Amino acid sequence: MTSLQLGDIAPDFDATTADGALSFHTWLGDSWGILFSHPADFTPVCTTELGRAAALEPEFARRGVKIAALSVDSAADHRAWSADIAEVSGSEVSFPMIADPDRKVADLYGMIPPGADNTATVRSVFVIGPDKRIKLTMTYPASTGRNFDEILRVVDSLQLTARHQVATPVDWRQGEDVVITPAVSDEEAQGRFPGYRAVKPYLRMTPQPKDAVDG
Ligand code: BEZ
Repeated sequence: MTSLQLGDIAPDFDATTADGALSFHTWLGDSWGILFSHPADFTPVCTTELGRAAALEPEFARRGVKIAALSVDSAADHRAWSADIAEVSGSEVSFPMIADPDRKVADLYGMIPPGADNTATVRSVFVIGPDKRIKLTMTYPASTGRNFDEILRVVDSLQLTARHQVATPVDWRQGEDVVITPAVSDEEAQGRFPGYRAVKPYLRMTPQPKDAVDG
């Protein structure tokens, strides 16, 4: 299949998780969502990643984001491994761990590179908006653990820029100045972002609009 693009509807699916059945779109409801895959249960880097995701789950929840992990392992393996994750990280996994032993979801989402010798999923991340459309994708190789602070950071940016005609500059973090998008004229910018700072005619900075989630 052709790979999923930003703006595509995140494909719906039914699956088994460590804690029972899950129907993806129904589970998402009106929330933001993150579906992320890992190569295999009982592996070192994946254990650190799932532990970090478990620790950050309240931060995702505070932002109205549901998270779900996936690999080609069985639900029984997910259950057994989650005890290790809790022991190693000190955080219980309270989000769904999707079992995809027949690679149905992995194929739908292109989580296994075509022609790969290894049929394990790579480290994919799909951030999905309340409209079920894909807002961001990331793909990391098995050898590199992801930075979950970065995933939270992009959620903050996506949620802010969904509400305001702003964009976030390089290395932006919650609370820092943002960029006024080129679609906003100078005249409109004066009304909406009074006192904005024009570094260049095309680079206009303004304090972060106030209704975003505080960092
Ligand atoms: C890991 O999680 O440590 C891992 C998994 C698959 C390949 C390489 C590393």
